[in-house]
Amino acid sequence: MLIARTLAELDTHRRALAARRGRIALVPTMGALHAGHRALVDAAVASGAGVITSIFVNPTQFGPNEDLSRYPRDEAGDLALLREAGCALVWLPDVATMYPPANACVITPAGPAQGFEGAARPGHFQGVATVCTKLFGQCRADLAFFGEKDWQQLQVIRRVVTDLHLPTEIVGIATVREADGLAMSSRNRFLSAKERARAPALYAALTGLRADLRQGAPAGAALDAAIAGLRAAGFAPDYLALVAGESLTPITAVQPGARLIATARLGSVRLLDNIGFD
Ligand code: PAF
Repeated sequence: MLIARTLAELDTHRRALAARRGRIALVPTMGALHAGHRALVDAAVASGAGVITSIFVNPTQFGPNEDLSRYPRDEAGDLALLREAGCALVWLPDVATMYPPANACVITPAGPAQGFEGAARPGHFQGVATVCTKLFGQCRADLAFFGEKDWQQLQVIRRVVTDLHLPTEIVGIATVREADGLAMSSRNRFLSAKERARAPALYAALTGLRADLRQGAPAGAALDAAIAGLRAAGFAPDYLALVAGESLTPITAVQPGARLIATARLGSVRLLDNIGFD
């Protein structure tokens, strides 16, 4: 497995990889890799393309009061996981490479970027869309793999690629869960033992709500009951909503492609999760 820390190194290794494998598959990450990331790399390797994984904790997607400085970093552990998974090239840029002093362009997505995480974290999706567009260009990615755990992010990236006619195919990969249902996340390590024991209640609330809606419960009342249940379980929910899966528009009844999305705070950790109906 090769490692690139400069654009020149990336370019040399990427060209050789593309010559050998034909297509390039990119797995964009912020490191602190876990089984959820491993599933993305496994899918990228299975695609037959030469796999590049980027590790970059992107400052522009963190708000001023967010956890950029305490975002977990584990380069040695990440490289070991990627080597074992069959990743061909790891791209480890620094902030000055991604955002040189003269940098003056950003991508400002609307549509699915509005509301929910977009409302709770102003500027977040602008940072995500901008860094992903840079990564797609730097790596000349034919394919890029994203987890469904960050459902809204996945829809925003699909919108960016479609609207800017980027030649990168976006592949969404199902959320990987712990045995008790908790969606894997780099931030789960910040849960105390007591919070970790409570955390699966978020997924349980989503699956319980889905069962109620499938049985014809009115959406408004069912959502209110699920939010009250989360509060009773010690969560501070930011939102729990039934939305059209692609546009993230709130809907009042289940329809094809519908999604339940939720974010709730447990102690200092903001847990995100979502499920579909299909
Ligand atoms: O999902 C993430 O880890 C990040 O938002 C991403 C896509 C790597 C962009 O920084």
